[in-house]
Amino acid sequence: MSNIQDKVVIITGASSGIGEATAKELAAKGAKLVLAARREERLKEIQDVITQSGGQVIYKATDVTSLEQMNELAAYALKEFGKIDVLVNNAGIMPQAFLAKNKVDEWNQMIDVNIKGVLYAIAAVTPHMRERKSGHVINLSSVAGHNIYPGGTVYCGTKHAVRAISEGLRQEEAMSGTNIRVTNISPGAVDSELLETTSDTEMKAGLDEFYKTAIPAESIARAISFAIEQPADVGINEMIIRPTVQVG
Ligand SMILES: NC(=O)c1ccc[n+]([C@@H]2O[C@H](COP(=O)([O-])OP(=O)(O)OC[C@H]3O[C@@H](n4cnc5c(N)ncnc54)[C@H](OP(=O)(O)O)[C@@H]3O)[C@@H](O)[C@H]2O)c1
Repeated sequence: MSNIQDKVVIITGASSGIGEATAKELAAKGAKLVLAARREERLKEIQDVITQSGGQVIYKATDVTSLEQMNELAAYALKEFGKIDVLVNNAGIMPQAFLAKNKVDEWNQMIDVNIKGVLYAIAAVTPHMRERKSGHVINLSSVAGHNIYPGGTVYCGTKHAVRAISEGLRQEEAMSGTNIRVTNISPGAVDSELLETTSDTEMKAGLDEFYKTAIPAESIARAISFAIEQPADVGINEMIIRPTVQVG
């Protein structure tokens, strides 16, 4: 039996891209899924596809920038499935632009979704995981969590923060003996809807060019699946997954 079978997995940002691909990958391996994002109709469509192939999936419209909604999501998962084994902390946005453009609203949105959203999800699920002495938190950082480049400064800042949060959480749980595993995943260019969140036309043109060699979202879904299916005493802590031809 797969080590994914019957695991209850919450996926944030499940309405497109990496989250959607991960939902389909894990459903095929027998996970019980709880999908979250703001676009409810997209979640319903994904639920229909997964259910038609025999998968088990529920969803809840959730904005990760609301701690209250994240707590409601965790409570819904517990009510329906009785436990939470894995959090795929995936929701994110990337409105990139040079700092000189002073897009302060977009800086705030990135901080709210990419950093606070990740922390709120951790706050919502880890008390239950600690109580059970079992769990797995998978955070989506980025190559931008390892590198810094002009135009990506705030996005890179948020993804560096995700990597710091992943490693800090890992150390704290390890020293507390909670058996909570932490995986930080850093994708390079992946084909998804992420570029649509960049409003700056100059930056978007460069990104469109850079993303011509993007790899499918399923590439990241397989890595997430690999991390989950390891035995409970094995933590896959850090993965960088780039297109083979991506330099930076
Ligand atoms: N694609 C890449 O090249 C790449 C590279 C490195 C890292 N990543 C990271 O991978 C993660 C997934 O991105 P993706 O590439 O799959 O992009 P995507 O297709 O745009 O998916 C992003 C997801 O986040 C959700 N989301 C955005 N704001 C939200 C909010 N406030 N509350 C709840 N959900 C929200 C979106 O759903 P709704 O709009 O329906 O809410 C969507 O489901 C992100 O953290 C991204 O930074 C992606």
